[in-house]
This record gives sequence, structure tokens and C-alpha cells, in this order.
Amino acid sequence: MNFEFLLIFLFHICTCVIGSELDYDGYLQLQLFHALNDDPVPNYTERGNITVTSIRTGASTIGQMGLQESQKQDLIKLAENNSKYRMKINVRSSSGSESTFLTSVPACHLLGTELEDILAIWVDGSAQPISITQISPGPCSLSSPPTNMWTTNVEVRHPDGGPTPDTASYIYKIEREKEARERGETKDNRSFIAKYWMYILPAVIFVVLSSAANPDAAGGGGGQRQ
Ligand SMILES: *[C@@H]1O[C@H](CO)[C@@H](O)[C@H](O)[C@H]1NC(C)=O
Ligand SMILES: *[C@@H]1O[C@H](CO)[C@@H](O)[C@H](O)[C@H]1NC(C)=O
Ligand SMILES: *[C@@H]1O[C@H](CO)[C@@H](O)[C@H](O)[C@H]1NC(C)=O
Ligand SMILES: *[C@@H]1O[C@H](CO)[C@@H](O)[C@H](O)[C@H]1NC(C)=O
Repeated sequence: MNFEFLLIFLFHICTCVIGSELDYDGYLQLQLFHALNDDPVPNYTERGNITVTSIRTGASTIGQMGLQESQKQDLIKLAENNSKYRMKINVRSSSGSESTFLTSVPACHLLGTELEDILAIWVDGSAQPISITQISPGPCSLSSPPTNMWTTNVEVRHPDGGPTPDTASYIYKIEREKEARERGETKDNRSFIAKYWMYILPAVIFVVLSSAANPDAAGGGGGQRQ
């Protein structure tokens, strides 16, 4: 193992232990609930599901139920009362953690945009959601929207200005691709282990070390994240 290799190896031990999901990407599963009543206690009913399939790119699939006619009337009544449309969002991340977020917008803004809204999901450096905000810029309107269906845009935002580039593994990848081109093969057909040993090995070492250090928790899952 030459020096460059050792550096890359150590780099990956660090990133594995920290468990930064932005290096590997990850997904988020969102369950949306909304309240169309004006009482202090919101009566949440199901609105739909969103799966952010890639936190890095923000790609997502959206499945929402349309508003029933009575719900549309409730929304208009909320708007007439200058009240807020409230949402509750349960999020499950690819690391298995679950959290709940609350957000609200003036109901008349949703009528003004004809049920179009933006869901901004803020994630921290380890791709955990830290805030979810529904945004509906308006204008304010009290007229019944011509549609029953939501038009939702999902945006994943990184407060620290975006993920930092994974320079070492990028250089490594470019090197390997160059070698592959020189050998005349364009497709990387190595086995899974051959391709990802630098990710798997530190994880295995970490699990072994942590179960040695803490025999009680040996076998308890998780591994990369404490
Ligand atoms: C509108 O506001 C009034 C006064 O706060 C309240 O009594 C009424 O129930 C509200 N209407 C709806 C539809 O919630
Ligand atoms: C909550 O909303 C559902 C669906 O609109 C309704 O059936 C139920 O009676 C409501 N519950 C309360 C406490 O208002
Ligand atoms: C959302 O997901 C839940 C649980 O997986 C499921 O029961 C429900 O039918 C889904 N709703 C929609 C609108 O797809
Ligand atoms: C990968 O493919 C090349 C030719 O396409 C072949 O020569 C080589 O043996 C293959 N390697 C493995 C590990 O299958």
C-alpha cells in the first residue's frame, strides 16, 4: 500500500466515522398532514407523501390527495378569516431517524397561487433535516381555485452553502478512470467488494473496534452513527 493509498484510506475512515451522508447521498420519506380548521388545536388529516430520492440533487417523487369539495370550502373559510393553513410533516431519513415539523402559510396565499406551494427542506452537513418550511408567496385571494390538486415543488437546501466537494475520492475516481481508459476498458466491471472496499473496510473496523470497546452493545446495529 503506497502513501497515496494510505491517505485515501485514512480519509475514508474519517468520513465513515463521521457518517456524513452527503458523501453517499441519502433519501427522506415525508408524510404530509394538514389542518383545515381554525381552532387552536389543529385537526390534521392526511395530505400525501413525498420521497426525496436524492438529498444531494433534491430529486423527489410526490403523491398527494386532491382536496375534496368540502375541504376546498374549509380552505376558503380559513382565507376569509385571514387564518393560517397548517401542516405537520413526519420525516424519516435513510439513517432511520424520525422527526416532525410544523409549518403554516396564510390560507389566502394558497388560493392566490391556485394550490401551488414550495416545500423547502433544510438539511445539516450530515443530511439530517433540521427545518421544513412551506412557502406560498401569494398573492392573497379569496376566490375558489380552479383545481383540486396541489402543485408542490420540493427544494432541498443546505444552510452551509452546499456540500463540500469530496476531493480525495474524486481524485481517486479520476485516476482510476484514467487507468481504465489506458487499459482500453470504459466500463467498470469490478465486483462490488473491489469497488467499495475503501468504504466497507473502515466500517467493519469501526464496528469491530466499537464492539470491543463496548461489549454490552456488541451486535447492536447502527455502526456508523452513534
Ligand atoms: C372565523 O373567526 C371567527 C372569530 O375568530 C370564529 O368564530 C369562526 O369560527 C371562524 N370561522 C371559521 C370557519 O373557522
Ligand atoms: C377532523 O377532520 C375529519 C375529516 O375532515 C373529521 O371527520 C373529524 O370529525 C374532525 N375532527 C374534529 C375533532 O374536528
Ligand atoms: C402515504 O403513505 C402511507 C404509509 O406508507 C400510505 O398508507 C398512504 O396511502 C400514502 N398516501 C398517499 C396519498 O400515497
Ligand atoms: C472486465 O471486462 C474486461 C473486458 O471488457 C475483461 O477483460 C476483464 O477480465 C473483466 N474483469 C472482470 C473482473 O470481470
